[in-house]
Amino acid sequence: MVGVTLVTLAGFSWLFAMPANIRGHVQNPYIGLLVFVAIPIVFFIGLALVPVGIFLAKRKVRQEFEHLPDRQNAWRRAGLFFGIMTLANIIIGSQLTYRSVEHMETVQFCGQTCHVMKPEFTAHLLAPHQQVECAACHVAPGASGWFKAKMAGTNQLIAVVFNTFPRPIESALEDNRLVSSAATCEQCHARNLFIGSPLKVITKYNEDETNSRTETVLMMQVGGGRFGGIHGAHMGPGVQIRYAAQDKKRQTVPWVEYRNTDTNVTRTYLADGAKADAATAFPVFEMQCADCHNRAAHSFEAADRAVDDAITTGRIASDLPFVKKTGVAIIKTAYATNDDAGRKIPSALMSFYQQKYPDLAGKRAADIQNAGKALASIYEHNVFPDLKVSWGTYQNNLGHTDAPGCFRCHDGSHSTADKKTTISQDCTLCHQSLAMDEKSPEILKTLGIAETLTGVRQ
Ligand code: HEC
Ligand code: HEC
Ligand code: HEC
Ligand code: HEC
Ligand code: HEC
Repeated sequence: MVGVTLVTLAGFSWLFAMPANIRGHVQNPYIGLLVFVAIPIVFFIGLALVPVGIFLAKRKVRQEFEHLPDRQNAWRRAGLFFGIMTLANIIIGSQLTYRSVEHMETVQFCGQTCHVMKPEFTAHLLAPHQQVECAACHVAPGASGWFKAKMAGTNQLIAVVFNTFPRPIESALEDNRLVSSAATCEQCHARNLFIGSPLKVITKYNEDETNSRTETVLMMQVGGGRFGGIHGAHMGPGVQIRYAAQDKKRQTVPWVEYRNTDTNVTRTYLADGAKADAATAFPVFEMQCADCHNRAAHSFEAADRAVDDAITTGRIASDLPFVKKTGVAIIKTAYATNDDAGRKIPSALMSFYQQKYPDLAGKRAADIQNAGKALASIYEHNVFPDLKVSWGTYQNNLGHTDAPGCFRCHDGSHSTADKKTTISQDCTLCHQSLAMDEKSPEILKTLGIAETLTGVRQ
């Protein structure tokens, strides 16, 4: 009877909560947890209790039936009743299971119900992959990928419940949780697509009183397919690059192998000072999209770049004296919690102007307040004190200025055994530098690119 009560209760609660959830009215992530996880658990516990109850009370049940005048008919009716109820419960139960499994793959469940995912959820809200579900990159297609993800998920849930999960959470490359690019990225992006040479304009502001603006203009030799370039060299037809990584974050690469099955060329490179057995002593990985684009979905910014972007996009007024230098210093300060930062950052900026530029503090109060809010928002998107995620915790491998990135291999020290060939560090192979930290570069004028259209770094 307890079982029947639980099943009925869960069934009705579910029926009432379901429509609002389907129509997407429920923003609270914990309602999802209730409807798709807690209620189904109660439902199935109830269902399991029914046969247990009948088994435990089987003598009593039989006695009850003995007293009935038309015993056979009563048994038949009881059988029919249980048969229909079981069928109904199987239908409801399969719906519940299907919906709860489906729900556990949503961005809401992964990113919000599970609070330890907050940094990744926050970064995921920014372009370009905000519409791509977490599971598209973190769960391999097919039954075995699904099963593996659920097993890993169960372990992670236990770690969260018992508070034993690492802080910061290891990056997906670091603990080998990332699904291959063929199963993820390449569902939407063709490996051999020819991209050519897109222009990259990087706008920066100096730490002087006028926040003087400079631009770097790079023409990225992305290429693609059989045309070579950055994509073609690593991902072109027949190309397979494998590397050994000495550390879990894969930042120290002692051994690299280039193989082209179309041309039958194989070259093996060893870093200066690396032991000859590096390929067997350390784990070996095949190079894929995420080895360069590791922050495609969750890009945490460097503090100075984030402030540069905010100035370029007008969230911070570019004519507030020393706003770049002061802004970066303020957001690089450690705050105990995000709430604390949200309060202290705007007031720190205001007090800087009140002390150093009292006139301005009054006249430009609104601009200073907006700049303070923008700084607080940058902090909130990149620093998560409770999870020990701070500036530089998760580095971006796409480049070589903020982290080793490309230079993990292209550092001029990786050479073949005869020392004749090295993995090149020639700047022009990767990008033509059309301007380097220049004020109003000529090239942008030539190309007719207005200042307002440049500089939002992704
Ligand atoms: C476009 C693909 C993609 C999507 C979509 C995506 N991720 Fe990731 N995620 C990655 C890659 C690539 C890494 C590995 C980063 C690294 O190792 O440096 C990663 C790493 C992580 C990590 C490990 C910690 C870290 O920051 O490295 C967590 C946790 C994570 N993702 C959670 C999520 C959640 C939650 C969502 C949905 C809100 C999501 N991911 C959506 C590609 C994706
Ligand atoms: C479900 C489809 C989907 C998956 C899976 C996916 N992407 Fe994308 N990606 C997109 C779309 C759509 C865009 C274009 C967004 C836009 O132009 O605003 C994009 C844009 C990009 C860009 C260009 C960003 C820019 O600044 O222009 C890169 C780089 C990228 N994806 C890499 C990856 C990598 C690496 C993976 C695998 C870890 C991946 N994507 C997985 C759909 C996807
Ligand atoms: C060797 C490193 C490397 C690998 C491997 C790599 N990329 Fe890229 N990719 C780059 C670089 C560098 C750029 C140019 C970035 C820029 O403009 O800032 C780029 C640009 C892109 C762009 C944006 C092109 C545009 O329109 O501006 C997309 C999309 C992309 N890559 C997807 C992928 C996918 C998908 C894979 C895997 C099949 C992949 N990349 C593998 C380094 C790499
Ligand atoms: C894991 C090691 C590794 C990393 C990291 C790496 N590369 Fe490479 N790269 C190679 C190898 C190996 C080759 C092929 C060398 C050969 O032809 O034998 C190569 C070739 C190239 C070439 C063609 C060079 C030529 O001589 O034509 C370009 C361009 C290039 N890489 C760009 C990049 C960029 C950009 C990045 C960072 C986003 C990067 N690589 C990161 C290993 C790496
Ligand atoms: C193996 C490929 C590769 C080589 C070699 C290389 N670069 Fe780069 N470089 C990149 C990539 C990729 C980026 C990142 C572009 C982006 O922001 O997306 C970059 C970015 C830069 C930037 C912009 C930094 C910033 O502030 O964002 C500068 C400056 C630069 N490179 C200079 C050089 C110089 C000088 C050399 C020669 C010594 C060189 N690079 C060699 C791949 C390379």
